[in-house]
Amino acid sequence: MSKNYTIITVPDPLLKQVAQPVARVDEAVRTQMDAMLATMYNAPGIGLAANQVSLLNRVLVMDISRREEGDEATPICMANPEIVWESEEISVMEEGCLSIPRQYAEVERPASVRVKYLDYEGKEAELKAEGLLSHCVQHEIDHLNGVLFIDYLSSLKRNMILRRVEKLKKQAVL
Ligand code: NI
Repeated sequence: MSKNYTIITVPDPLLKQVAQPVARVDEAVRTQMDAMLATMYNAPGIGLAANQVSLLNRVLVMDISRREEGDEATPICMANPEIVWESEEISVMEEGCLSIPRQYAEVERPASVRVKYLDYEGKEAELKAEGLLSHCVQHEIDHLNGVLFIDYLSSLKRNMILRRVEKLKKQAVL
């Protein structure tokens, strides 16, 4: 049974920090990946980056498969992910974030990307992603660089979202 982490929310300054590469995927990193997956499923969410659980190493987890109750889980764990190719074609999709609860906005990103990373076993792997998975992996890699999806919005929209989260927190809804 994996422990659950606490997910931090805006405006926590850790979300603006750049995470550092891991030297290798060892038992400690695997334990972290397991706990991040458990935390993500519990939230529930489809992606989680280390910064969001107050860890500043370049580790992220995703699973876009569990759209319906009972769907089989197909987790993807990445260490040191790096986008090595992105399409010129653009995709616009509504995104949300566990660190910006209950807020959603359309974000424009390259429609497909190829990502190199170290997998759960510590082996070099590559993922070609499009659609939701492409948005998800780019969103999570952004987290490792201290970037949030609201950073792509106008300052007017961004501030509106930040104020709404602040209000939710005051009402102790979160
Ligand atoms: Ni996020």
